[in-house]
Amino acid sequence: MSSGFDRPYAGTWAVVPVKPFGQAKSRLAKTLSATARMELAESLMRHTLQVLRTCSELANVVVVSQDDRVLEIASELGAVALRERSQSNLNRAIMQALGYITSVGGKAGLVLPSDLPNLHQTDVAELLNCMDHTGSGIVICPDRHEQGTNALLLSPPDLLNVAYGPQSFEAHVRAANALGIDAHVVRAPGIVLDLDTPDDWKLWHAQQPLFERRSVRRYSNALISRTAIERLVAAATWAPSAHNRQPWRFVVVTKESSKLELAQAMGDRLRSDRMTDGDDSAVIEADVARSHARISGAPAVIVACMSTADMDHYLDDRRARVEETMATQSVAMAVQNLLLAAYSEGLGACWMCAPLFCPDVVSQVLRLPSDWQPQALVTLGVPANDGKPANRKSIQMLTRWI
Ligand SMILES: Cc1cc2nc3c(=O)[nH]c(=O)nc-3n(C[C@H](O)[C@H](O)[C@H](O)COP(=O)(O)O)c2cc1C
Repeated sequence: MSSGFDRPYAGTWAVVPVKPFGQAKSRLAKTLSATARMELAESLMRHTLQVLRTCSELANVVVVSQDDRVLEIASELGAVALRERSQSNLNRAIMQALGYITSVGGKAGLVLPSDLPNLHQTDVAELLNCMDHTGSGIVICPDRHEQGTNALLLSPPDLLNVAYGPQSFEAHVRAANALGIDAHVVRAPGIVLDLDTPDDWKLWHAQQPLFERRSVRRYSNALISRTAIERLVAAATWAPSAHNRQPWRFVVVTKESSKLELAQAMGDRLRSDRMTDGDDSAVIEADVARSHARISGAPAVIVACMSTADMDHYLDDRRARVEETMATQSVAMAVQNLLLAAYSEGLGACWMCAPLFCPDVVSQVLRLPSDWQPQALVTLGVPANDGKPANRKSIQMLTRWI
């Protein structure tokens, strides 16, 4: 068996048990056709293995299955493909894979199902970080109902007999306790949702744009219809806003000559600012060219502006500043709606902060009313790529529970 992960055999291995695609997702039978369920099972497995490939903390991945097609895809994606001996007994299949890891010198096993649509490398890192520094222990991530087990990290891999099935979360915690170990419970956001039931399916669809939208900076030449752009702007205007004063304003730029004029004028300001900084002229020119190409090359550009005309007005600076902040926050909410709506329409978009650095230039080129303050420029188009893979800090680092 060979591995495409090119990492040492020691360390933590992921274990992904995969049912034959034809038997997977039976609880979605009322929602999806048999073919759609098979395609879903395959695409989820591919997603899982692709995410695991990006986890530098993992030594390798083993896929255990009785299905030829599953094993073929596993090998194609660089995982170790282990033929299941047990024929349809999940717990035995997992124990077989954990035994394999032990036999090749792996120090820990992370069991993950192949149907976690929101799985991200950050989630895997979060689980691995929770492992006891002695190198021995159990980390569990339950499903969103706190009943099933969606991730089980065991160090060493054969620490206990896995007990997947109804209420497996509780069963695994109890099994750990019986060994005198406190299981570390982590609720990693990309792991708690597995796609089993029609409710999971609905939730996933509702949340997909939040997790899967990425900034897209390259577009095809395809034009975007005025109606499509109007839908995006309408979505933007349904954002919440302070006192519901809706301080957002939008300039939609699709005319080639206007995009060029804007890109040129903004580039000129960027050049003169960077020359004042004393930067290298070749570097400046490269940056100016990049900015120009980004703005002029997008099929549409939306400049989001803020007007404080309808906000409350205070005589003291402190409260006036608060009101201004609330207007800025409201415009940011609107732009986020716009980005999510673009994603939902299959469009790519990217927020550029450049107008904040040259509001006078933007106002002049676009002939803005005097109270419209440029805040952001959103480039928009049919994506030419998926955008850069993005990372997020763990919610544990960012959250305090009191
Ligand atoms: C206020 C703000 C300003 C940004 N400015 C720029 C920018 O000038 N150029 C750019 O390429 N991306 C810009 N971005 C996009 C971020 O780089 C991007 O959101 C971040 O890297 C996370 O990637 P993701 O959007 O793909 O999840 C900006 C985003 C925000 C919210």
